[in-house]
Amino acid sequence: VSLTGRGDLSARIYRQLLDAILDGRLRPGERLPPTRELAQRLAVSRNTVAVAYDRLTAEGFLVGRVGSGTFVCTESFGRSPSGSAQRRRSAPDAPGGGVVPRRLWESVPVPDEVDAAPAPYDFRVGIPDARLFPYETWRRLLSRELRPAALGTAGYGEPAGHGGLREAIARYIGVSRSVHAGAGDVIVTNGAQQALDLVGRVLVEPGACVAVEEPGYVAVRRLLLSLGARVAGVPVDAEGLVVSQLPKTARLVYVTPSHQFPLGVPMSLARRTALLAWAERQRAVVIEDDYDSEYRFSERPLEPLQSLDRGGRVVYVGSFSKTLLPMLRLGFLVAPASLRPALRSAKQLTDWHGELPAQAALARFIDEGLLARHIRKTTKEYGLRHARVLAALGRELPALQPVPSAAGLHLSARLTPGLDVDLDATVARAREAGVAVQTLGGFCGEEPVQRGLVIGYGAIPTDRIDEGLRRVAAATS
Ligand SMILES: Cc1ncc(COP(=O)(O)O)c(C=O)c1O
Repeated sequence: VSLTGRGDLSARIYRQLLDAILDGRLRPGERLPPTRELAQRLAVSRNTVAVAYDRLTAEGFLVGRVGSGTFVCTESFGRSPSGSAQRRRSAPDAPGGGVVPRRLWESVPVPDEVDAAPAPYDFRVGIPDARLFPYETWRRLLSRELRPAALGTAGYGEPAGHGGLREAIARYIGVSRSVHAGAGDVIVTNGAQQALDLVGRVLVEPGACVAVEEPGYVAVRRLLLSLGARVAGVPVDAEGLVVSQLPKTARLVYVTPSHQFPLGVPMSLARRTALLAWAERQRAVVIEDDYDSEYRFSERPLEPLQSLDRGGRVVYVGSFSKTLLPMLRLGFLVAPASLRPALRSAKQLTDWHGELPAQAALARFIDEGLLARHIRKTTKEYGLRHARVLAALGRELPALQPVPSAAGLHLSARLTPGLDVDLDATVARAREAGVAVQTLGGFCGEEPVQRGLVIGYGAIPTDRIDEGLRRVAAATS
C-alpha cells in the first residue's frame, strides 16, 4: 500500500487492498497485517486502516476471525465491485482497451512458448548437449570470482565488458578463426542476439531496407522489424547468399557465412569477395554472424569476412551459447573503429554491461586452454552425431536430400521436388510420437519457399538418433 499524494487515506487503502485481492496479489485465505501494524508502517492512525478493513469486510472481501486476525475471504472473487479496480482489471482483455505497444510491434511475431519438458527425441536446432557442459570446472572458476577480493568495488563496470575476457576473446578468435581484433575492438554481449540488437540500434534507420538470408535466422528478422526496418529476404544457394540479388537500397546485410543458418552451406570465397565488394560500393555494413562454426567436422574453414574486409565494413558476431550453454548468455561482437563508441554507448544504455563474474570466469576458461580442450572433446561427440544423422536419413528418409554441410549442431535436408509429403503434418505427428523436429519452411520469412526438415543433433544423445528419425519416417504417412 502506498500513500503518496493527497486525498482520503482510508479510501485509498481500501482501493489498493481491493485491487490486490481482485488481481490475485492477495490470495483467498491470506492473512492481512493487523490494523495496528499496517497503521504503523503507513504512519497513519489505526482507525484510518480499520475503516478500510471494515468496508472490505462489509462488502465480503475480508473476514475477521476473533483471536486470529483478518483474512481475505475465500469467496470474494467473481463479485462485481464498483469503481476503478474492476475497470483496471478487465482493461487488458477488453477489445481495444488497455495499454498497447507501438503500432510497429503488431507486425513483429511473438516468440513461441519455451517447452518446459523437452521431447524424448529432441532434434530442435541450436541447442547444445547440457550433459557435456564442464560443470565442475565452471563451478570452480565462478566461485573464484564470487569472493570480495575478486569482485573489488561493488560499482558498475565497463560497458564493453570484462577487460580480461575481451583480451581472451581477441586472442582466441585470432587463433581459431583468423579474426583480426585486439581487446579494444571487442564488446562482450549477452549472447549473439544482443550483439545483433546493438548493431541494429546503432545502424537501422526506421523504414530503411535491411537484407537477410532466405531461409534464415528468424530472430534477426523479427529484431529488425521491431527496429522499424523493411526486411528483404535474399535467396541462398549452394554458395551462400546470392549477392547479385541484394536490393540496391540495402545498407545493412546480415549473413551467416561459416555455416548458413539453417541450410548449413558455407559461403564460397567468390561470394565472400563479391559481398565485400558490394558493401564497399554501396557503403553498406555486413553483419557476419559466426554463431556455431567452432564445430567443424571436415574441411578447413574459409577466412571470415571480417579478416578479408579491407574497408572496415564488417561487424563480426560470436557466441558461447553452442560451445557452453545458451542460458549463460555470453557472446560478443568485433566492430570497426568507426562504430565502436556508439555500440559501447548502446550497450550501456541497454543493460550497462553483462554479468562480470561470469565474464571473468570465461576469461580464465579461455586463458587456461579449457575452452579449446572442451571444444575438441565435444567436436568428437557432435561429429559422431552428424554422421549418424546423415546415415539414418539415408536409410529412413530417402525422400529427404541432406544439404552438404560439415559444421555446427544441425543440418538441413530438402524434400525431393515433386514428392507429395505434408511436412507440417509430419512434424505434428512426430511430436505426438515424442519427437521434436522443425520444417525448413519455418525458417522462411514470407512464404515457405523451401521444403524440408532442419535436424538439430546438439540436444539428442547419439544412441537416440536412429529411433528418433525412424519415428519421423513413420510420421510422414
Ligand atoms: C544464427 C544464429 N545467430 C544467433 C543466435 C543467438 O545466439 P545467442 O544464444 O548467442 O544469442 C542463434 C541461436 O540459435 C542462431 O541460430
